[in-house]
Amino acid sequence: MKNNKICIIGLGYVGLPLAVIFAKKFDVVGVDISKSRINELKNSYDRTFEVEPKKLDLVKEKIIFTSNIKDAEDCDIYIVTVPTPIDKYNRPDLTPLIESSRAIGKVLTADNIVIYESTVYPGVTEDVCVPELEKTSKLTFNEDFYCGYSPERVNPGDREHTAENIIKVTSGSTPFIAKKVDNLYNQVLTAGTHMVSSIKVAEASKVIENTQRDVNIALINELALIFNQMNIDTNEVIEAASTKWNFIKLKPGLVGGHCIGVDPYYLTFKSEELGYKPDLILASRQINNSMGKYIADQTIREMINAGKKIKDAQVLILGITFKENCPDMRNSKVLDIIAELKKIGTKVDVYDPFIELIERDELYKHGLIHNPIKGNKKYDAIVVAVSHNQFKKYTEKDYSNMSNGESIVIDVKNIVDNPTWKL
Ligand SMILES: NC(=O)c1ccc[n+]([C@@H]2O[C@H](COP(=O)([O-])OP(=O)(O)OC[C@H]3O[C@@H](n4cnc5c(N)ncnc54)[C@H](O)[C@@H]3O)[C@@H](O)[C@H]2O)c1
Repeated sequence: MKNNKICIIGLGYVGLPLAVIFAKKFDVVGVDISKSRINELKNSYDRTFEVEPKKLDLVKEKIIFTSNIKDAEDCDIYIVTVPTPIDKYNRPDLTPLIESSRAIGKVLTADNIVIYESTVYPGVTEDVCVPELEKTSKLTFNEDFYCGYSPERVNPGDREHTAENIIKVTSGSTPFIAKKVDNLYNQVLTAGTHMVSSIKVAEASKVIENTQRDVNIALINELALIFNQMNIDTNEVIEAASTKWNFIKLKPGLVGGHCIGVDPYYLTFKSEELGYKPDLILASRQINNSMGKYIADQTIREMINAGKKIKDAQVLILGITFKENCPDMRNSKVLDIIAELKKIGTKVDVYDPFIELIERDELYKHGLIHNPIKGNKKYDAIVVAVSHNQFKKYTEKDYSNMSNGESIVIDVKNIVDNPTWKL
């Protein structure tokens, strides 16, 4: 194992931290189709902020960053961490997995192992990826080359649960390979591994982690809709209920991003293909997807109650990323709030300290502005949509300074003292 050379394909939120971890013990080739990403990494800059420049500098000699898979032809382990998005009909889009498998097929040689980490439905590794590997490499699965699946559980923006200290589920296409895969991860992870009997079990274990969370959050969101009708503070109810040992403590909110809001569709797709309609999972998806519109409706209602004119009213949204303290905007449900508010005729500005200035140019269509605390503009309503640390420091005076007359503050994340309305 010691002399293994490892190739990581897809250097995003998952792949880059993994490459850095492996580089502590192995030579690593990091491949990404995005040339700009490769150039940034060569200059020790990670736009996801998951790996600090200092850390990238330290591993520079152990990782080759490249867009050319040929640079990885002497590797014997290939780890795939490419995106697994959905299309506009919420069906799995397996294009990145298929394309990266074809690329690996071009350099695959005898006894190599290809380990997939991307989140999928059970069966994708063996039924979709393996045929691509076989076709391009002309090698035979489980005779000439082998596969593994080890789902990633990292939580971007979370400095406590990092890739290194989360237990990793491992699997392999034969019992011997499963042990090899397990041993590989055990050499670099501090938290250890949990080996399972098949690739399909490992695939299923990941997709249900996010599905369970999605369903549980949908329940809390539904409860929030009910309690708001009754003028009951949902967060206080949750605090009280969670004094019971087996209550699952979750908060109501927007479910965006590329994991919890996407992965359940992988499972529902496969389930429906097999003839079973997963009503609970689909209903949960629908509830969570409707929360952006609900928050926009509540904002308008509070503005009307305060006697504000809606047409051309100035609304400020604080936060546009899908989660706190992270620059990731993928599938952010804050965009739903913005779209609804604009549809009704309000003018919307958005401030998010985590969105890069370069990207802001492209994002001006969403109304991104510089720090409003430092400006003079006054707003008819302020929606606190993401709990970035910076927003947690805002005081009542800050809100009142940004407000036009009576301040209407809508608190989606329960971080504002005395908001007009909170979820
Ligand atoms: N980000 C998370 O929180 C997280 C956590 C656990 C699991 N996952 C799963 O891990 C996978 C990767 O997610 P991510 O957040 O790192 O995605 P990402 O978009 O941040 O990174 C993916 C990278 O892969 C590159 N890429 C795309 N197609 C490629 C190809 N054919 N060849 C080489 N590179 C290619 C992209 O340019 C990008 O840099 C997904 O399946 C996701 O569901 C993500």
